[in-house]
Amino acid sequence: MRELIVDVERVEALIAEMSLDQKIGQMVQAERSTISPDEVKAHHIGSVLSGGGSYPGDNRPEDWLDMIDAYWDASLDTPLGIPILYGIDAVHGNNNVRGATVFPHNIGLGCANDPDLMARIAQVTVREVLACGVQWVFAPSLAVARDNRWGRCCESYSEDPEIVVSYAGRFVGALQDDLGEDSVIACAKHWVGDGGTTYGIDQGNTEVTKAELENIHIAPYYPAIEAGVLTIMASYNCWNGDKCHGHEYLLTHLLKGEMGFGGFIVSDWEGISQLSSDYGDAVALSVNAGIDMFMLPETWRKFIGHVRQHVERQTVSMDRIDDAVRRILSVKSAYGLFDRPKPSQSYWAGHRCFGSQEHREVARDAVRKSLVLLKNTDGLLPLDRDARILVAGKSAHNRGYQCGGWTVEWQGVCGNDLIEGGTSIWEGIANLAPQAVLHTGGADVDAGAYDVAVVAIGEKPYAEGLGDIRSGDDVVVEVGSQISGLMKLQEAYGESLELAELHPEDLQTIEDIRAKGIPLVVVLVSGRPLVINRELNAASAFVAAWLPGSEGQGVADVLFGDCDFQGKLSFSWPKSEDENTNRGDETYQPLFPYGYGLSYSD
Ligand code: GLC
Repeated sequence: MRELIVDVERVEALIAEMSLDQKIGQMVQAERSTISPDEVKAHHIGSVLSGGGSYPGDNRPEDWLDMIDAYWDASLDTPLGIPILYGIDAVHGNNNVRGATVFPHNIGLGCANDPDLMARIAQVTVREVLACGVQWVFAPSLAVARDNRWGRCCESYSEDPEIVVSYAGRFVGALQDDLGEDSVIACAKHWVGDGGTTYGIDQGNTEVTKAELENIHIAPYYPAIEAGVLTIMASYNCWNGDKCHGHEYLLTHLLKGEMGFGGFIVSDWEGISQLSSDYGDAVALSVNAGIDMFMLPETWRKFIGHVRQHVERQTVSMDRIDDAVRRILSVKSAYGLFDRPKPSQSYWAGHRCFGSQEHREVARDAVRKSLVLLKNTDGLLPLDRDARILVAGKSAHNRGYQCGGWTVEWQGVCGNDLIEGGTSIWEGIANLAPQAVLHTGGADVDAGAYDVAVVAIGEKPYAEGLGDIRSGDDVVVEVGSQISGLMKLQEAYGESLELAELHPEDLQTIEDIRAKGIPLVVVLVSGRPLVINRELNAASAFVAAWLPGSEGQGVADVLFGDCDFQGKLSFSWPKSEDENTNRGDETYQPLFPYGYGLSYSD
């Protein structure tokens, strides 16, 4: 296991000098929209985050540097001068910021099955995150998604631990590197069993035996810890009815004890509030269970008061507080935070590499490697560059759709304006085929004018529970946050995994074009396998493109044969709505099995 190099003397001297309030402050992570630099100073706050879609000014690197400098300076303008950590969800590149290189979501990277590629992606992500002054990323997700109805399947590399295990250490190691100026702090998430909930309900109940939890969901954390991951995020879900955020066995005895995790555990967004209707009880339960830093965008102020009260009443011990603060300060020391310049003065701050063509080439290569060819009858693919190509479908010219959730906005965006740089699938095709024509519909095309059609269709962006497929009483999802008054009950993404149910407009487009006698290739832009029997039957060729991110050119490169398909399914593909099988299940008869993927050389 990689040893943390900590200035123990400095950490212990700080702890000896710190007041209770200063210690509690270090355990707090507030959100940029609920705390000012002055409040960071007044309350000795340890960290600030940006939630998905929470950005400063015009959402440019310089806006981020100005904002984070202000928090940094405020945290240093205190008797102890402990710098804050700024954290964001850079889960497929620095996806929050306009103009960033946006990588394929994890489900596509799992199909690429290329750990070396993951290290290259991590390095680009590090530089584009540091360019904005951020030091801590809430990645990688080590979820092993077992049910395609989960709204976060796209954040999972695979339904099976094998690929997730092979990526965990490489990605953490490349993000954290030597903890020098070309590194950020990583955060393995969500501990534990987030991808195993019953019916795939987000933040639901993972009902599995200890052996299943170990073999499927815990397995990827061993290589992450071996690689020296400095933070781990607790998960919203329950394990057999018990919330992870209050689970002393999982957080303290297993993760910190048996597995030897030496960094700190951060809660998920207001996750502790789910432990009890009495907030004070929830605070004691989560602190005593072993959470060290508390992501409390909405409740950080009252949290401080409750912890102070619990210590005075001895319902939370001073030893536990010191343990949490020691872990937090040790991570800051291991990262060299005390000796770093302010974010805008760091080497990569505002660097021209941000969104550069060099970085985009890495993402383009990731796209090529992520695509899975499910069908190619009559050798329709590869396409001829000089062919008369009709390009259609709602996802053909929509960089927002191809990026999916967690892109500029929490729930992603629609259209091309907010995804600056990069190429849509259409733009990628047009770059290679002079006779290609974009035609969003399909009904009124001239049959004789085209040799072949490329129809890009699929899901619209979503994140977390809003991506769930739910039916019956579970159909309502409580999401959002009190901050912007967005806490409301919203509909989940849909009630069926059948694409023709979710988006009948897609099948309509396909059938309209097929009725003209034009052979067609379907490119599916989705965050998970869907039931696609009708669309598949109508297509001569079918490509699973997942959520490719900003570099749609990578899709065109493979469609025209400049590169061969190499992607293999890291998720089993279901043949029907009610079939949810995973690699290794006893009854395993998917439409396309784990590991399936055609290529031109086949
Ligand atoms: C969200 C997600 C978590 C993310 C955090 C901060 O609720 O569960 O993955 O890192 O909040 O945005």
